Amino acid sequence: AEIIIVRDEEEAGRLYATCVAKLIRRKPDAVLGLATGSSPLAAYRALAGEIGKDGLDVSRVRGFALDEYIGLPLDHPESYHSTIHRTVVGPLGLDPALVHVPGDALDGAPLSDEALVAPAGAAYDAAIEAAGGIDVQILGIGTDGHVGFNEPGSSLASGTRVKTLAEQTRLDNARFFDDDVDKVPTHCITQGIGTIMKARHLVLLAFGAGKAEAIEETVEGGVSSFCPASALQLHPHATVIVDEAAASRLR
Ligand code: F6R
Repeated sequence: AEIIIVRDEEEAGRLYATCVAKLIRRKPDAVLGLATGSSPLAAYRALAGEIGKDGLDVSRVRGFALDEYIGLPLDHPESYHSTIHRTVVGPLGLDPALVHVPGDALDGAPLSDEALVAPAGAAYDAAIEAAGGIDVQILGIGTDGHVGFNEPGSSLASGTRVKTLAEQTRLDNARFFDDDVDKVPTHCITQGIGTIMKARHLVLLAFGAGKAEAIEETVEGGVSSFCPASALQLHPHATVIVDEAAASRLR
């Protein structure tokens, strides 16, 4: 992977925005891979700032998000459907009909609704394929090396599928659910590492000392399902953008 060390999230955001703006000028119906979490927020803000400059038009841009909880109504404020629409679709002025989140077809159905849940992963991968694949996939990374909801141990060849959330992830995310872990869904649907690896360009963003170990494992460790992000080493076009703190354990 190409490693770029930046001063702060704003500088990282500008790099992402420059790259994506160039893509959209060349391909007005570009397909963006979108992530939730805090790491990409400055990048979305920077991209929003580019729109309209020299006529940059995003009305035909398409999007596919990485992951979603199972069992939350789509309009629940913490669903990734809501989050992506609030933090990306709205601020960028994308066409909401062109932006997809893996749980959309479930429409809040519970895990027990097998008829809906079972085919959803393969259908999402098929939709990405039908769109011609993802041009640029933005990624954050968990302190344990997860990407999307692919926790350590996830197959590096996996497609979009239903997963059980790790207990630690549910505890970490309880802060978004009134600090009540019982309100955190137990399952999710996430693009697989194999899905993510099909995107033509991966841009992984990580900031702060808390990510230093995960970045070291991702970039300099062996490729292993125990650090799902390490699959990036096998990608022909992966860019890792980190601040000094997140880069602090790199040789
Ligand atoms: C986001 C996602 C997660 C986050 C990761 C880092 O859709 O699936 O993998 O990217 O947990 O989160 P932040 O950026 O909040 O540190």
